[in-house]
Amino acid sequence: SPSDPDLVERARAAKEKLGDKVFVLGHHYQRDEVIQFADVTGDSFKLARDAAARPQAEYIVFCGVHFMAESADILTGDGQKVVLPDLAAGCSMADMATAEQVAECWDVLTEAGVAEQVVPVSYMNSSADIKAFTGKHGGTICTSSNARRALDWAFEQGEKVLFLPDQHLGRNTAVRDMGMSLEDCVVYNPHKPNGGLTADELRAAKMILWRGHCSVHGRFSLDSVDDVRERIPGVNVLVHPECRHEVVAAADYVGSTEYIIKTLEAAPAGSKWAIGTELNLVRRLANRFASEGKEIVFLDKTVCFCSTMNRIDLPHLVWALESLAEGNLVNRIEVDKETEAFAKLALERMLALP
Ligand code: 13P
Ligand code: SF4
Repeated sequence: SPSDPDLVERARAAKEKLGDKVFVLGHHYQRDEVIQFADVTGDSFKLARDAAARPQAEYIVFCGVHFMAESADILTGDGQKVVLPDLAAGCSMADMATAEQVAECWDVLTEAGVAEQVVPVSYMNSSADIKAFTGKHGGTICTSSNARRALDWAFEQGEKVLFLPDQHLGRNTAVRDMGMSLEDCVVYNPHKPNGGLTADELRAAKMILWRGHCSVHGRFSLDSVDDVRERIPGVNVLVHPECRHEVVAAADYVGSTEYIIKTLEAAPAGSKWAIGTELNLVRRLANRFASEGKEIVFLDKTVCFCSTMNRIDLPHLVWALESLAEGNLVNRIEVDKETEAFAKLALERMLALP
């Protein structure tokens, strides 16, 4: 069982044996049983930065999903090895943009005569191939905590942005934070010829949004916001920018997982909050702040974990740590050198954003 005291003890012992050789990173969506062994926890941005700041650790055990482990590999030194405790911990959003599809999209933009004006901005939640494409074409990576700054930067470099792969983060940032209109945005559908767009539409657009989304955050609806406001008078609605535009537009506060935590830390006793993000995090926050008199509920009636984040559980973590402690390097995530070079360019542009 996940709370099996034997497993807890084995994880502790293996970690102790490894000492400074191992550094465990945990994304906020990880299970409690895993998060208790993380040396640092964070949102995608913080974890990328922290991974890069541990040159002494031979092993970085990434409790998160595949694209995060790839990014950590790209940003860490040659002698460092990144380990993902379950290789099946992917991300359905990242899978929505493949290298072939994005190359085809670039051809479409070139044929429409707009490619020279376009700067790609790719969400961290994308494969290393997509990050390399982004770096190669003069673009940057962003996360939900710096999307506004990344877009400001991109619009200093060119007139249009190709935003990959989360249409919601792209639209929400452009419209809610930067004052663009919904008409400034078009959606490129990789499953349709020419993305389902005419050359005129591409010429008129400022934001070309890839047709990708998060299946977890996509489940929150305007109805969930209306319901919770009716059920809990005075409730503050706080959502992640991966939610659909109408949800974000109806919310009181919007931000990354780290922002969500900081906002609740600063909230006064007696305040009420409905949170639109992954359930492991919301439950942990509800428990943590209950004693301070802050009421925290999940912004939906249905249970909503990220199934791939949840693949990293205590048995997988124990297996990875014990293997490393015995000198067996398992589940290494290693990006090939050429991809790494271009992807690093894009990631470093993000890290250099003001
Ligand atoms: P952040 O932690 O950067 O807000 O990202 C959320 C997410 O969906 C990660 O997969
Ligand atoms: Fe991907 Fe959504 Fe899960 Fe994040 S929460 S890892 S974006 S599927």
